[in-house]
Amino acid sequence: MAKIVITYGTFDLFHIGHLNILKRAKEFGDHLIVGVTSEIYDRSRGKLNVVQDLETRLNAIKKLDFVDKVIVETHKNQKIEDIKHYKVDRFVIGDDWIGKFDYLKDFCEVIYLPRTKDISSTQLRKSIDSIKLGIIGTGRIAHRFATECSFVEGIEVHSVYSRDMKNVKSFIQNHDILYGFDNLDSFLKSDIDAVYIASPHENHYEQSKKVLHNKKHLLCEKPITLKVKEVEELVELALENNLILLEAVKTAFLPAFNKLLDEIKSGIIGDVIEVKATFTKLIEDRTLREWQSPFGGATNELSTYPLLLATKLLGDVEDIVFYTQKDNNVDLSNTIICKHKDNKVSISTVGIGMKSEGEAVISGTKGYIVIPAPWWLTREFKIKFEDIHKEYNFNYEFEGDGLRYEISEFKSLINRKNLISNMYSHNDMLKINKIIAKFNEKDFK
Ligand code: CTP
Repeated sequence: MAKIVITYGTFDLFHIGHLNILKRAKEFGDHLIVGVTSEIYDRSRGKLNVVQDLETRLNAIKKLDFVDKVIVETHKNQKIEDIKHYKVDRFVIGDDWIGKFDYLKDFCEVIYLPRTKDISSTQLRKSIDSIKLGIIGTGRIAHRFATECSFVEGIEVHSVYSRDMKNVKSFIQNHDILYGFDNLDSFLKSDIDAVYIASPHENHYEQSKKVLHNKKHLLCEKPITLKVKEVEELVELALENNLILLEAVKTAFLPAFNKLLDEIKSGIIGDVIEVKATFTKLIEDRTLREWQSPFGGATNELSTYPLLLATKLLGDVEDIVFYTQKDNNVDLSNTIICKHKDNKVSISTVGIGMKSEGEAVISGTKGYIVIPAPWWLTREFKIKFEDIHKEYNFNYEFEGDGLRYEISEFKSLINRKNLISNMYSHNDMLKINKIIAKFNEKDFK
């Protein structure tokens, strides 16, 4: 009987070490199956720095005439499933994994082979030039962002801009950054490839335009602007100039959030009928930016997150009602009820002067999903059904406060010259910002 061998890997920047192990794996049988890790799976196990997309990595393996089958590895326990499904006789892997796969011995023979010396994808990635990033703004989020950048290979914070030189100086000292500017034009003319904007909302549009006119890729804090026309103009400008334009909505890039979307797509809870999500953050100091009219308020500060869930799952909005509580003309809370296609409904609640449980519930025709608070830092979710004994739990720990996944996606888009992110497209951004803009239009009357 033909012997079946299986092996797995990321196979980023395919190199001689990969070729050697695959050739040797084939010598252990007649039929070789190679599992290539998906992007979401790699991110969920903390491998954030893969340069090539899945398709490119798959194609490299498919070209090898001695490989008989190529599959995609998408989740943690898949190896056992594959071994049973394909009736595998031998599992082969490099000896950097020695002992780690002994648990598979219950299902097949496990063989660890010596790695080829002095070559690895990690080493090859180091020879690719780092992306030089400039940061606009020196506030709390800019500090967290700069710290998180140090966990993503291939991107380096090169310079920072703020109107206030005192803030610039302390920021560059804190984060060991080479250059600081208090003049935006000089900052944009400096040797940077990309810019992250972490300034107050009202500055985003003018600054974004300047960044794109200066031919730099752009990652901008949310909401990118408060007017639909302006978002559309920025998207057009980015596309015309072959530049990446990404809104910094960190939830969209988290492994668990993407797993959740995949589960829903698979139909496990049937057709999604209703989405409810709440995000409140009590801000007690009324002198802060968040409490200033007209740009502050709960909606501008926080609604991007629940609206991300609503629009990802239910699409465009056909009708909308805002139930807003105000203090001094600033919304301390807002419940945004949207009617989507086929009368499906989303209820998004935000508050800066009201506290509530920050959970999300997605209700479908066959079951429902609960994402416990804080749902926007998605780590776990439960899939539940009418039968209370049936429940699936998903847990995906992530490192840091989640920003590194967004940074890693921005970097990958630049490296791969992909103008649109699969996790958060321009369309996704427009859907959300249309709702926020509608609230602001109404408010400005
Ligand atoms: N491999 C090998 N010799 C090398 C590098 C990798 O035999 N010099 C093997 C690994 O042991 C594994 C397979 O190739 O069985 C796929 O490994 P992968 O993790 O994709 O490659 P690395 O170069 O180790 O990648 P990284 O540096 O990102 O960990």
